[in-house]
Order: sequence, then C-alpha cells, then structure tokens
Amino acid sequence: MTASSADGAAGCPAARPDRDGAAPAYVSYARMDTLHELAVPRTESPRELTFILISHVKELLFRVVHTEIDQARKQLRSRRPQDACASMERAVRAQRVLLASWDVMTAMTPDEFLTFRDVLGTASGTQSFMYRALEFSLGNKDPHSVRDCLSHLDRYPVLRAELDAPSLYDEALRYLGGNGLPVPAHVLERDVTRQYEADPGVEEVWLSVYRAPGRHPREHRLAEALTELSYQFSLWRANHLLVVERMLGSKPGTGGTSGLGWLRSINEHRFFPELWAARTRL
Ligand code: HEM
Repeated sequence: MTASSADGAAGCPAARPDRDGAAPAYVSYARMDTLHELAVPRTESPRELTFILISHVKELLFRVVHTEIDQARKQLRSRRPQDACASMERAVRAQRVLLASWDVMTAMTPDEFLTFRDVLGTASGTQSFMYRALEFSLGNKDPHSVRDCLSHLDRYPVLRAELDAPSLYDEALRYLGGNGLPVPAHVLERDVTRQYEADPGVEEVWLSVYRAPGRHPREHRLAEALTELSYQFSLWRANHLLVVERMLGSKPGTGGTSGLGWLRSINEHRFFPELWAARTRL
C-alpha cells in the first residue's frame, strides 16, 4: 500500500499535506499556489483568464526552449554534437507544444477579445524579455529589437547575457570550422553581439555537407536539427500572424506597430539563413 492510499488521499499529490501541516508537497515544491495567484484578470470576461493563462504557458515554454538551446550551445562548445542535437530535439518538442497552444487561443471570438482588449493598454508580446532572449540565443539580434531592449538589460540579466554571448549558430559554425570545414575566418571571428548576416562561404560549407552526408554524418544531423528548430520557430510566427488576423484584422497592435503589416515583415526572417539558401542549389 502506498503512503497516499494509506492516507486516503486517492493518490493525488496535491491532497497530501507535509508532516508539519504546511502546504502539500506538490504545492510547496513548485510553488503552485504562487503560480495560480499570478493570473489576475482585470475584467469579468472568462476569456481574459484563458488569455492570461495561455500567455503564461507560452512564456514558460519559451524558457524551456531557451534552456535547451543554451545546453546545445554549451555541448557544441565542448564538441559533443550528438548531445547538442538531442538538446535541440527536446527544444523542438517544446516548440510543438507552443504551436499547439494557439488552438486554445483561437477558441476565443474577436468580439470576446474586444471585451477586454482595452485593459491591455500598451502591453504587447514585443516586450517579452524571454522571447527576445530566445531570439538572441538563436542569432536574431536585429538592431531595432536590440535598441528596444537597451533600457531593460539591467532589469533582465538573461537579456544582457544573451546579447553578449555567441548564439547557437555561432557555436555550430565554430564546431564545423574545428572539424576542418572551410568556414570563413571573418565569420568565426565576427562580433557576436551583432545580428548574424548570411555568408556565401557558410552556404558552401552546408552544401558540401548535404552533397556528401555519408562523409559528414554528424554535421548532416546538426544541419537538420538546426533546420527543424528554425522551421518550428517560423511556424510559431506564422500561426501568431494568423491568430492576429483572426482576432484583430488590420487594427494596429497595442505595442505601437501597424499590427499585421509589421508581423508579416517579421515572418520573412529565417534563423540559420544559409541552411535555407543551400536547398535551392542542392
Ligand atoms: C489574441 C491574441 C494575440 C493578439 C491579437 C496578438 C497581437 C500582436 C500584435 C498586433 C503584435 C505586433 C506588436 C504590437 O504592436 O503589439 C504582437 C507581437 C507579439 N506577440 Fe502577440 N498577440 C496575441 C497573442 C500572443 C501570445 C499569447 C503571445 C505569447 C505569449 C504573443 C507574443 C508576441 C510576441 C513575442 C510578439 C513580438 C514578435 C517579435 O517581436 O518578433 N502574442 N502580437
């Protein structure tokens, strides 16, 4: 007989108090009470509560993805490409959940959204420091977003750390260079605090990997793991764009952008651009 069934708690960890009578271990271990206190709607709309909860879920998943990216980056630095690919594959699983969670958001109709949209004020996803840290960790240090983040760097240390650090892609290219592939020196020595720009020499390197996968099995797996990450990120952006069109049409965003038009231009961006370009010439 397990401890919980002896207590008559029907196996639910939340129903089993600690011996000292404090919060049940399930609640105190992960601070579930605090977590639930964080969702505070400002209107009576039940849809607003769901909107806040799904936003929380997405933020937490951004962090899961970022944690795995950070692991993958360290593993590449210590020349453990298989471990790095496993970390990236875990990140991709979290990205799939991120994508699936849009389905809960789109259960809301546009008129329901408008019953509470005003209380958002100027709040916007553009201000998500975890999302921005994730973009930085993958190499998108777009000068406009960097400028927007400058005043927040001390408040959110993860942002400063990511701005200064080599991205996952920088580490991947260093790994390839360390394996004797001709990654141009100016790419390996670039200023990692700047936006990554596509380089024809890097495209040639990826082409050589895809043209002879048998000779470069680890590099080929790395290329596909990076491509899948980038693909999933673009799917998230494209789905967000459609959610915005479904909820708002062409209304401007609360963050001060034109809304759809601005998001469409963001959708054009691809992480690890040479991996996409190489496909045309393969
Ligand atoms: C009804 C649902 C949503 C609508 C209508 C919406 C609308 C918008 C709009 C119009 C923008 C452009 C910036 C602005 O002017 O505000 C934006 C950006 C953004 N939103 Fe949403 N959003 C929704 C849900 C979410 C959720 C749940 C998340 C995740 C927590 C999210 C994350 C983002 C991010 C990260 C950006 C910035 C993208 C970038 O800078 O690349 N959005 N959103």
